[in-house]
Amino acid sequence: MRLAGKVALISGAARGMGAEEARLFAREGAQVVLGDLLDEAGEKVAAEIRQQGGDATYMRLDVTEETAWGEAVKAAESAYGKLDILVNNAGIAGYSKGDDDTIEEFDRFLAVNARGSYLGIRAAIPAMRRAGGGSIVNISSISGLIGQKYVHAGYNASKGAVRIMTKSIALQYAADAIRVNSVHPGPIQTDMTKEAWSDPERLRRTELATPLGRYGKALDVAYAVLFLASDEAAFVTGAELVVDGGFTAQ
Ligand SMILES: NC(=O)c1ccc[n+]([C@@H]2O[C@H](COP(=O)([O-])OP(=O)(O)OC[C@H]3O[C@@H](n4cnc5c(N)ncnc54)[C@H](O)[C@@H]3O)[C@@H](O)[C@H]2O)c1
Repeated sequence: MRLAGKVALISGAARGMGAEEARLFAREGAQVVLGDLLDEAGEKVAAEIRQQGGDATYMRLDVTEETAWGEAVKAAESAYGKLDILVNNAGIAGYSKGDDDTIEEFDRFLAVNARGSYLGIRAAIPAMRRAGGGSIVNISSISGLIGQKYVHAGYNASKGAVRIMTKSIALQYAADAIRVNSVHPGPIQTDMTKEAWSDPERLRRTELATPLGRYGKALDVAYAVLFLASDEAAFVTGAELVVDGGFTAQ
């Protein structure tokens, strides 16, 4: 019960890492609001959590819309009385097609991954102040730390933005007891990366390039997020936690 008494809002929680974080947080005693665009899948994850004795609510949340964020934070406060934890997990990714990469794609990565996270932070801060403090976990990527030939540069730009704004927000709100950290997953087996891991040759290449010799699982990342969200990380802010099987240690 590492999150007993805590209320969490997780964006992009209908599948992948966000869904795994919602399940883990609920098992650890948190009341969880799941936000996403995939209503059916999101409702299903929340219902599953409730069936297993947890407390969870799904609501539609497009992270690019400021008003939707306001409503999500309000929903958490009215359902559960407060907001302690925000996980900015929603994201979109794309591989590079060389000269065919478009500016529209670049703008979209920035809008969802970077601006979407910033909107979430802005909506959560007043509620966390009312709660007497809080923890914000921003999901960046190893793509926010290193260059990658095969990734759309707009994805790297958006995740680099998430990494560095995490540190500024951490400094700006430390006096309010609001901690802000980033998590940097390496290759994780979810729907987002299905195109890559369902091709045996690309799967093998990634396994060989990863010191621990495998793709990560959503739960590998969820445990790192759990630590940063919990009071166990009470003295951790402005930090970046890499969860990549050793990929960036090389
Ligand atoms: N899978 C990986 O290898 C990997 C590696 C590093 C970082 N990440 C990051 O981890 C996070 C989760 O990725 P995942 O692998 O679980 O991907 P995923 O595609 O399985 O899940 C992402 C979720 O975000 C939601 N989403 C997308 N746009 C949204 C929007 N505008 N508003 C609300 N929700 C939206 C999607 O509907 C989906 O449910 C992302 O930020 C991703 O960039 C993933």
